Amino acid sequence: MTVPSPDVFDDGTVRLLHGDARDVAATLPSASVQAIVTSPPYFGLRQYEQPGQYGAEASLGDYIDHLTGLFDELWRVLADDGTLWLNLGDSYASQPGAARGADSELAGRKHGAAQIRTGGTRRKKAGVDGSRKNLLGVPWRVAFALQDAGWILRSDIIWRKSNALPESVTDRPTRAHEYVFLFAKSDRYYFDADAIAEPSRKRPGEVVNRRTVWDIPTVPSVGSHEAVFPPDLPRLAIRAGTRPGDTVLDPFSGSSTTGAVAALEGRQYVGIDLNRDYLEQSVRERFSQPVLPWAAA
Ligand SMILES: C[S@@+](CC[C@H](N)C(=O)[O-])C[C@H]1O[C@@H](n2cnc3c(N)ncnc32)[C@H](O)[C@@H]1O
Repeated sequence: MTVPSPDVFDDGTVRLLHGDARDVAATLPSASVQAIVTSPPYFGLRQYEQPGQYGAEASLGDYIDHLTGLFDELWRVLADDGTLWLNLGDSYASQPGAARGADSELAGRKHGAAQIRTGGTRRKKAGVDGSRKNLLGVPWRVAFALQDAGWILRSDIIWRKSNALPESVTDRPTRAHEYVFLFAKSDRYYFDADAIAEPSRKRPGEVVNRRTVWDIPTVPSVGSHEAVFPPDLPRLAIRAGTRPGDTVLDPFSGSSTTGAVAALEGRQYVGIDLNRDYLEQSVRERFSQPVLPWAAA
């Protein structure tokens, strides 16, 4: 295991750690965080140009094993009544990078039941034919693998990107959503439903339980980081999953949106990223100013 570099930043509330998510996770104390709120790089979609980055694996099976390995370690770091909020988007086999993993490589992977066979007739194929235009179903494959590893899947939340731009495709609808999976370690876990209640549509002035479709517009990139969370997404997870003073972890911190919202909500934050530049950029753009108006509700 590589020893993580010294902290990039630590102001007593926000702590940013540089290194591989799993290596750094192994150094964190057990049961030290109440909620994990994160968005790993999606499979085959974006090149962050760092050796060891998630999403650039040779196969989809390796990607899933990578993630389940990390979350095996984070199981220990998460409080017994803690929650994991995992945002994932899907990939198409025809996307550059994704196709290489979609075909034969799911066969033989350690987690989950998905099996892919190559060649043969259409009837013989049991999973995704990576040579075609298949949607890979990555979020659900990861979710099932985490269930197999012992996580309790409590909710599949649709993040509806209310400002999604049209895609230049003519043979399917434009994709305008991603998933946020809510996992727990045990069947009794901390969850403050009132903190994220939404206005009742039938009874003005009253609130009802938050529904599973979250309408949240995407936001522009932050510095050189393109795939940033809109602040409202981690805010809902943080409010429901933690109390003031609790610690929130994002093992794929990126521009540290989760951290900025956590700090604004009076929580502690630990962020990990493989890319030191992103963390240093977070310090400049997120944590060097006393107020964070962009992140306000
Ligand atoms: C989708 S981005 C996260 C964006 C973040 N939610 C935000 O709002 O800015 C994924 C991040 O994971 C980081 N990453 C990729 N592989 C990693 C690894 N092995 N360990 C830690 N971080 C990694 C990338 O550098 C990138 O910043």
